[in-house]
Amino acid sequence: MRLLILGGTQFLGRAIATHAAAIGHDVTCAARGVAGPVAHGVRFIRVERDEEDGLAPLAGHAFDAVVDVSRHPGQVRRAVAALKPHVGHWTFVSTVSVYADNGTPGQRADAAPLKAPVAPEVAHSTEPTYGAAKVACEQAVGDDAFICRAGLIVGPEDPTGRFTYWPTRLARGGEVLVPGPSDDAVQFIDVRDLARWIVHAAQTGLTGCFDGIGPTYTRAQFMAECSGALDSSCTFTWVDRAFLESQDIRRWTGPRALPLWLPLPDYAGFATRDTSPARAAGLTVRPLAQTARDTLAWARSAGGPVTGLTADEERAALQAWHAGRLEAAK
Ligand SMILES: NC(=O)c1ccc[n+]([C@@H]2O[C@H](COP(=O)([O-])OP(=O)(O)OC[C@H]3O[C@@H](n4cnc5c(N)ncnc54)[C@H](OP(=O)(O)O)[C@@H]3O)[C@@H](O)[C@H]2O)c1
Repeated sequence: MRLLILGGTQFLGRAIATHAAAIGHDVTCAARGVAGPVAHGVRFIRVERDEEDGLAPLAGHAFDAVVDVSRHPGQVRRAVAALKPHVGHWTFVSTVSVYADNGTPGQRADAAPLKAPVAPEVAHSTEPTYGAAKVACEQAVGDDAFICRAGLIVGPEDPTGRFTYWPTRLARGGEVLVPGPSDDAVQFIDVRDLARWIVHAAQTGLTGCFDGIGPTYTRAQFMAECSGALDSSCTFTWVDRAFLESQDIRRWTGPRALPLWLPLPDYAGFATRDTSPARAAGLTVRPLAQTARDTLAWARSAGGPVTGLTADEERAALQAWHAGRLEAAK
């Protein structure tokens, strides 16, 4: 397959390029050359997708399949107009952030309501309009494509450091601050599994809308499987939401965050997407233990980024928690 990745020099795009090249496809990545290196054995063509004729360097090249990771509707429209009529299979990598309702558990890609697409005047999306911009991108791509709505993507080379927080924290051992309740849902996909499925979809001509994400774990399962995989000697101190909020500990990602902790009830369904259609269409996922071990190994060897509480911040929060318990017991 002659595969063009529009992008391909960042986390997921590079994983797709790496996998496709490794199994013998002829892979081209088209980007500005800013985000990161090109995978081994992959051709690179410099393009600027914000310019009207920015894809001109691709003229004269023929492709069997295209994968686009853009989040800007204008970029997607230009790519579809210039390339799609001449290409056999088109994948657009979207996101579960397109969904309007994050509160209802167990939703499926084919039935869940979407956000209203972002208006053209704010087409160059910023983070608050990310999901709505992806809806507009999906509409620009059309129904005859493979729309892969990725959930939280994790694993080696993750530039966000969110998932990476947990393997690196557990590997340090000791008393670990964990957000309760223990049956909160956690859902993600290893970047290498998602990449493999996207290449498989191009090979098999898969079309339609799917969620690209792995199974749902409870947070207790997630913590137990991760720490077991890393042979870490830690104890878990489960704390409630009100306490974390009182300590200004944040959700999901960023400084002072406990990563992968979601606001409830608004996000009660966010990590519980029904992935049976994706599995029926060929998505397979590796064990969490392998993702945890490989992410830790990469974070250590490459100094990969980690976001979330620092060791001092976690210690201070644990001290405050125990002091509060002592006080309450008096
Ligand atoms: N990370 C997650 O947890 C998560 C969750 C759900 C969905 N997703 C989706 O998954 C995909 C992730 O893709 P990714 O990891 O490959 O990262 P990405 O940040 O989407 O990669 C963007 C790619 O486009 C290129 N690019 C950016 N601006 C450009 C321009 N003006 N002209 C030409 N090329 C340009 C970048 O390279 P240059 O900068 O070198 O040009 C890079 O290769 C995205 O579609 C994202 O929305 C991610």
